[in-house]
Amino acid sequence: MITGASEGTGQAFARRIAAEGLPSVLLARRLGPLTDLADSIRAETGVECVSASVDLASDDGAQQVIEAVGDREIGLYIANAGADPNGAHFLDVDVEPWLKLMRLNVLTMMQLCHHFGGAMRARRRGGLLLVNSGAAYGGSSFMAAYTGSKAFELCFGESLWAELRPYNVDVLNLVLGKTDTPAFRALLAKNGLPEPTDWATPQDVAEAGVTRLPHGPIHNQGQAADTVGDERRSRVLMIEEMSKSVFGEKAPD
Ligand SMILES: NC(=O)c1ccc[n+]([C@@H]2O[C@H](COP(=O)([O-])OP(=O)(O)OC[C@H]3O[C@@H](n4cnc5c(N)ncnc54)[C@H](OP(=O)(O)O)[C@@H]3O)[C@@H](O)[C@H]2O)c1
Repeated sequence: MITGASEGTGQAFARRIAAEGLPSVLLARRLGPLTDLADSIRAETGVECVSASVDLASDDGAQQVIEAVGDREIGLYIANAGADPNGAHFLDVDVEPWLKLMRLNVLTMMQLCHHFGGAMRARRRGGLLLVNSGAAYGGSSFMAAYTGSKAFELCFGESLWAELRPYNVDVLNLVLGKTDTPAFRALLAKNGLPEPTDWATPQDVAEAGVTRLPHGPIHNQGQAADTVGDERRSRVLMIEEMSKSVFGEKAPD
């Protein structure tokens, strides 16, 4: 199941997953591009794709997804949709766009991890792939709500990685830098800025996600020697040891 599958990194994930021979559920708001992609994947690979229009930033975004999925088994949830289209100082726009971003990146993502992660834990098999951003590592101007939401996703994903390891459920925060997507191009165009020359392609991102999925909790895309990711993994494991004196140990049931 891939959110934001109609373009950019989401579309690349859809094609990469189909190349493994796996069927998928493709989600975004606009149904047209999703069904075009599903038709093209089906024609090229014979792999089945289901598409559904959902608004992940609405109050019932998670429920819309759960209904669209029905009784299909979700083996991998790729939480991909989540860029900030506003690119504004926090106080320069109404608060509603920021609330929508929080629903998209925090509340709906968390609800879907709870719903589909629960089934994965029961099956002792599955994966949660959270497409994140270098913005998760700290605050900065123009990105107040975005950095906050991505920092939540980073820590939340690390915690889930620690909790789900014993159940054979992979959790990965795939941390992206500048990536050539329609959404990022639109933001640059809105601000009259040139395209970067050093951005990653969506295909690079999808490949890194699939390859690194078993090696969570974090991978910084494009980093051959990912010292930051390694340090964060060590920290999660260290805290897990320390917190045994507070929470005890939970053996898989
Ligand atoms: N591009 C970069 O340079 C960059 C850098 C760092 C991190 N990232 C991360 O990479 C991920 C993908 O980014 P992106 O640049 O491709 O832009 P994005 O806006 O996150 O993704 C675009 C996709 O998301 C869908 N979408 C957007 N809002 C939605 C909503 N409310 N409900 C359902 N679907 C929604 C869009 O389709 P519809 O419009 O049809 O809904 C489209 O398929 C994000 O998590 C972002 O934070 C990107």
